[in-house]
Amino acid sequence: MKERILVTGGTGFIGSHTVVELQNSGYDVVIIDDLSNSKADVVENIEKITGIRPAFEQVDCTDFAALEATFAKYNGIKAIIHFAASKAVGESVQQPLKYYRNNIVSLVNLLELMPKYNVEGIVFSSSCTVYGQPDVLPVTEAAPTKKAESPYGNTKQINEEIIVDTVNSGSPISSVILRYFNPIGAHPTAFIGELPLGVPQNLLPYLTQTAIGIRKELSVFGDDYDTPDGSCIRDYIYVVDLAKAHVKAIDRILENKMLEKVEVFNLGTGRGLSVLELINEFEAATGVKLPYKIVGRRAGDIVKVWANPERANKVLGWSADTPIRDVLASAWKWQLKLREDGIM
Ligand code: UFG
Repeated sequence: MKERILVTGGTGFIGSHTVVELQNSGYDVVIIDDLSNSKADVVENIEKITGIRPAFEQVDCTDFAALEATFAKYNGIKAIIHFAASKAVGESVQQPLKYYRNNIVSLVNLLELMPKYNVEGIVFSSSCTVYGQPDVLPVTEAAPTKKAESPYGNTKQINEEIIVDTVNSGSPISSVILRYFNPIGAHPTAFIGELPLGVPQNLLPYLTQTAIGIRKELSVFGDDYDTPDGSCIRDYIYVVDLAKAHVKAIDRILENKMLEKVEVFNLGTGRGLSVLELINEFEAATGVKLPYKIVGRRAGDIVKVWANPERANKVLGWSADTPIRDVLASAWKWQLKLREDGIM
């Protein structure tokens, strides 16, 4: 067994897929999650895939004492992947302090505890949201960050700065900051996937819930943008590909391969797809007709963004190359499994 890794938010969407890939690579995983947006049975579902049950503690990362108790209980944690965060853009506008407390305090607590428990590095979940609407596409890591559109986005920017300031102050840690584009899909086994509470805000879960009949039709937010078909463009990345990048980041920290104490990588495919193109790809991948209508623009939407992932390709030795139809088929298989299991 390789080193012990702490995964915060490890029962969530990206977290659970990452735990699977870490275990498949031989790492010993400890999950902490407050279960505010996920269920404890995800731990069993991970075990069904890998044959190994990860250790699990229901801990809120803003609770310093509980967090410290976890480091004390699980001796020898070598690195952390920090997913645990509130992530609903709209809710963050309504309840900014919830976002500032959850997302900022959690990271501060981890950074304070790391040196005391000899944790070498932290991989941080950031987002392409830090670029706002980039002036140049595809966007590289050198692009300037822009004023955040929401408190949620602001927490990602502030957290990146907190990490840089902490490392610059001489803290004996290193950090890999991963800026995700739009993660979608589910594990090919359909044992784990995305399980949004209530009405989904993101495109893919709304789309698959519409396809299965839970929602009447998908609203396409705007077809009058400055894009070839008028709908917004994003870089949709398969969650399993994304999960594998985290393993590469952990390898990099633990094998002392980092060139700088803080490294930043864009995680995307390098290809942009419009909302209407994605609908077409979904229909082609599944043979299911998707009812949709064009409605007005959604406030705050970025018009078009896709990654230049060259740095991740070259330096991290990683690329996202699962074909989009396979990705969409995995999301559909997951939605069908939720129906079969009577969950949705
Ligand atoms: N969309 C629809 N109909 C829907 C939902 C979404 O047309 O019902 C469109 C959006 O307008 C957008 C695209 O689908 O053009 C993708 O929307 P998502 O909400 O799935 O994703 P976003 O790109 O808006 O948001 C993502 C992450 C956020 C992050 C943001 C940064 O989910 O966490 O990128 O831009 F902050």
